[in-house]
Amino acid sequence: MKSSPLTQLDAADGFVEIQLGEAMLVGRSRIERRLSDLRGSFHDDAAYEAALQRGDPLIYAVSSVEPASGEGQMHYGLGVLYPGKIGREYYLTKGHYHARRSAAEVYVGLQGEGQMLLEDEASGASRMVPLHKHAVVYVPGFTAHRTVNTGGEPLVYLGIYPADAGHDYGSIASKNFRMVILERDGAPAMEERFNNA
Ligand code: PA5
Ligand code: MN
Repeated sequence: MKSSPLTQLDAADGFVEIQLGEAMLVGRSRIERRLSDLRGSFHDDAAYEAALQRGDPLIYAVSSVEPASGEGQMHYGLGVLYPGKIGREYYLTKGHYHARRSAAEVYVGLQGEGQMLLEDEASGASRMVPLHKHAVVYVPGFTAHRTVNTGGEPLVYLGIYPADAGHDYGSIASKNFRMVILERDGAPAMEERFNNA
């Protein structure tokens, strides 16, 4: 029989189960991000350093499936972002652009309550979009994206993206997002980064 994309695909990459309770993809390793990995991400530096003095909790973890590479292929990752706050700012992911800027992504919420912070690279236009169980969020190309847990339980979601998207963390590390998502009167609100202590 002739080799084909289907027969080349490792069966273990073609079928993966989600273990929601453990926020794991069965048989996959996770990359973990602790508070100490997120220096510079939160807007309130003093609150960040004070929190780090108290401990270095796991903030989020991602397990990825990369079945094939090349044009037209897809990758995906399961993210789990734990609940908590630094000052008034909710726990968040580092956030990134895709290295191939035109690459879009689809997020599917599986558990918990959160928001995605989206920022257009050229204009800086920002948007806060809810992410929760059964919600689907489309992240267009050329858009920085960060996930924020605004609830009391782990926020679990899938992110599905072109195999050649790549992750550009450097642009976010150097200038961060223009907006922050904070708790205001008990609810998440998007505010300008530097107006909030
Ligand atoms: O591919 C994605 O956009 C997600 O799976 C993210 O990688 C995940 O939310 C973790 O965020 P970050 O990659 O910004 O650390
Ligand atoms: Mn992405």
